[in-house]
Amino acid sequence: MMKKQEAPAPRDVTERDGASLPNTPNTPASRRMALKMGIAALGSVWMGGYARAASRSDGETSAANVTNAPVTNAATPGDRVPFFGKHQAGITMPRPANGMIASFSVLAETPEALERLFRRLTERAIFLTHGGAPPEYDPRLPPADSGILGPNIPPDARTITVSLGNSLFEERPWLKPHKPLRLSRMTRFPNDALDAALCHGDLSLQICANTQDSTQHALRDILKNLADQLVLRWMQEGNVPVIQPGPDKAAESARNLLGFRDGSANPDAGDEALMNRLVWVGPERGEPAWALGGSYQAVRIIRNFVERWDRAPLWEQEAFIGRAKVTGAPLDKPRATEADVPDYVNDPQGEKTPLASHIRLANDRTPETQDNIILRRPFNYFNGVAKNGQLDQGLLFICYQADLEKGFITVQRRLDGEPLEEYLKPVGGGYFFTLPGVAHKNDFFGSALIAAIRA
Ligand code: HEM
Repeated sequence: MMKKQEAPAPRDVTERDGASLPNTPNTPASRRMALKMGIAALGSVWMGGYARAASRSDGETSAANVTNAPVTNAATPGDRVPFFGKHQAGITMPRPANGMIASFSVLAETPEALERLFRRLTERAIFLTHGGAPPEYDPRLPPADSGILGPNIPPDARTITVSLGNSLFEERPWLKPHKPLRLSRMTRFPNDALDAALCHGDLSLQICANTQDSTQHALRDILKNLADQLVLRWMQEGNVPVIQPGPDKAAESARNLLGFRDGSANPDAGDEALMNRLVWVGPERGEPAWALGGSYQAVRIIRNFVERWDRAPLWEQEAFIGRAKVTGAPLDKPRATEADVPDYVNDPQGEKTPLASHIRLANDRTPETQDNIILRRPFNYFNGVAKNGQLDQGLLFICYQADLEKGFITVQRRLDGEPLEEYLKPVGGGYFFTLPGVAHKNDFFGSALIAAIRA
């Protein structure tokens, strides 16, 4: 009998194919930068070909939005997202068609065990992001891979984004002093009906890819390879509807399960200065040094009462959201596009865009609230049928921000009591801190945190 083989370290392919180039948002600017860096020659590096500029009715264009809908046939199994960089992938780049959040309990009780976990997770994430052939083992041993994607695993635009929960820090005295300043345990908002089995966790993985098979494959790979380090607590899968390209080839935000375009007013992920202000933790925030380049992740599983919504009059649906259903245009500019912005200054009483509409409460567009802007990256979910015979569908809401309190928590407080709540019920989720990126092939997730613990 052969000795049990350790699964070998992933093949070092980063230098061969340029995957060590920093992960970049998919915007005209980043595409230009990528071209300068010579990535253009690498046909398989994922440039999100479907994320084109959105045109506004005033003739200006805005950069690709993370919530643009994927376009039919633009994605291929060979799409590869660069893994290494200052920030993790899967945040400022447009979503592929599938995503999930999986939340885990961490078994590590010592810094050494936590480092082992981080290193192992990094190895798996590098392999899964890059793809390739898994090693062949003696047939008397379990095979290295589940095999569900065949003998050669395509990269399929896969990203694996790692974030840490409040409990990981709070329950370990040696980690507690290093907790990010704004990380807290998610508390109940008035409209919530939280199921404890769907909340919180020590560590979250956001896994995204072109196909559901690829996200499932990645999850099974991680469960198998980290079986002694992570225990799965809950997960929620979701997807983004893939659309036919429009006649003018302009990008459109994908629709959510209320039938509205979701993401129209998201901040421009191609604007690096804006992302540094709104999404990434920078030195000005007083956070621990290890956290620089990270972000706060808020996750909410929000059920939509779709049968009830489908019986609501169109005028009510539009008034509750604050945008036109078909085009996504602001209600004060009916002939505009979703990229146009509503004018609240000339509508102080809310005659055009109701004061209690979702978009007006979420962002009143005054100078005072500009620090509350969040980067949304949601997926629609379909969980079959609930016990009462109603469809169990909704939004796997995910957003990123440099300050959890100023971002998600403040926006959600403003939304508390909104008329749209009649059709929504948050049932799960949690707050996490998304680790900074893995800089190079000898680095690993959380290396700066481990160094801070040891210092
Ligand atoms: C199932 C739940 C939700 C649905 C169906 C929904 C739907 C929408 C829609 C259709 C829009 C307009 C288009 C757009 O700009 O994206 C929108 C905007 C927005 N939503 Fe939501 N949303 C939900 C939950 C949330 C939550 C939980 C938050 C944050 C706490 C949030 C924050 C925002 C923000 C900040 C905007 C942009 C407002 C603006 O700048 O004009 N949404 N949402």
